[in-house]
Amino acid sequence: MTILDSALQCARNNQEAHLEELQRFLAIPSISTLTAHKPDVEHAARWLADQLKSMDIDNVEVMPTGGHPIVYGEWLRAEGKPVVLVYGHYDVQPADPLDEWETPPFEPTVRGDELYARGVADMKGQIFALLKAVGALHQQGPLPVNLKFLIEGEEEVGSPHLGEFIDAHREKLDCDAVLNCDAGILTPEQPSITYALRGLAYFELEVRGPSKDLHSGLFGGVVHNPAQALCELLAGMHDDQGRVTLPGFYDKVRDLGDEERAVLAQDPTTDQDWLQNTGAPALWGEAGYTATERVGARPTLDVNGLISGFTGEGSKTVLPAKALAKISMRLVADQNSADVHQQLLAYLRKNAPKTITWEVRELVHGDGAIMNRNAPAIRVAAEALEAVFGAAPVFKREGGSIPVVALLQQKLGVDTVMLGFSLPTSGIHGPNEKLHLPCFFRGIETYIRFLTGIAHHKP
Ligand code: BES
Ligand code: MN
Repeated sequence: MTILDSALQCARNNQEAHLEELQRFLAIPSISTLTAHKPDVEHAARWLADQLKSMDIDNVEVMPTGGHPIVYGEWLRAEGKPVVLVYGHYDVQPADPLDEWETPPFEPTVRGDELYARGVADMKGQIFALLKAVGALHQQGPLPVNLKFLIEGEEEVGSPHLGEFIDAHREKLDCDAVLNCDAGILTPEQPSITYALRGLAYFELEVRGPSKDLHSGLFGGVVHNPAQALCELLAGMHDDQGRVTLPGFYDKVRDLGDEERAVLAQDPTTDQDWLQNTGAPALWGEAGYTATERVGARPTLDVNGLISGFTGEGSKTVLPAKALAKISMRLVADQNSADVHQQLLAYLRKNAPKTITWEVRELVHGDGAIMNRNAPAIRVAAEALEAVFGAAPVFKREGGSIPVVALLQQKLGVDTVMLGFSLPTSGIHGPNEKLHLPCFFRGIETYIRFLTGIAHHKP
């Protein structure tokens, strides 16, 4: 038997044990945004470091950053073989709304073919699958390829310390290719490879009017209501074609050529699927693009939250003193979050009325990225997926963001292969997040095939 076959066999023999162990990882509530969970985040980091050590990975470290730690490890004994940097994140999103979970988010539960837990699809399941793939290979002898592990604990808060970490450890992170496991496929039958991600620029816009809340009967019609002024400003941020009106917003956006449009058109997701996955009564968006194009290849602006005035039970006749909106833009490759910040300020300088004052605070930013679909490492990933799923992958652009991909391109000049196994129906960030177990087990096999496949390529 070849090393590949025996590693695959080993993974199959251990499916039950893997499932049990994954559940222990998922039980650690490593919510990066909540200060109260800092000890849990650190626990998850140590748990991963122990996993790496138990697999005979060298120089395993839990490295401090200005925020949550980064787990690092390496295996560099495959002389003459490429170095693959494996990326993952062990932090998760908050679990609320808690009362909508059928079983508690940090008590992982199998129902049918699904494993339910916060973070199971985004992305503890994937990084765990990768570790088990490495473990299965390592049980057969020396690993066929050199590996470095970069597993962070701040992805879900925008990776605020990752840029400086990469700057400080350039040599340590030097590699030939990056395997990013934080990705998904279209359906259990139709694998896909993500070759682009959107960036994110996230802001708070606060509008202030009178110095305190006023009686709306005594003062309504005398001063500009900040809630109304805010809504007017927000409404002006799109035109009637669904385009964003911030000055210069589309200047750096690459046109989708016919060739790429044809590639994206191979994604079989229909408008009916989008309707079903969202539950919305109708679709909406920028004119002239399909839903799949709008979400992957076009930048967008969303209001993520609105706070103003009286929102309790019953009625209160109040004219609020202030109003706040959380606004974020999803950016595509070549756009940059600092430019977009300036564009937002320019829009407000031009359009904000004299009747209010305003302030913008930037909360999170990360750039988008696009990769060459024909890169050798991406072909290896495509072959691995086809061998395991029995179908060739289609290529897709991901609408979500993972800041590390652009950071590694910009700072180290290395491209990333996105290879992961969540589904559009996994409910990431929402209640009852789940991972389809057949995809999890096929994921382990795909990673085994990817790592053995890439070993044949020249560094
Ligand atoms: N795992 C997601 C990104 C993703 C979504 C990959 C779907 C593949 C399929 C990632 O953890 C995420 O949620 N990113 C945040 C980033 C933000 C906080 C900077 C996002 O996109 O909102
Ligand atoms: Mn996420």
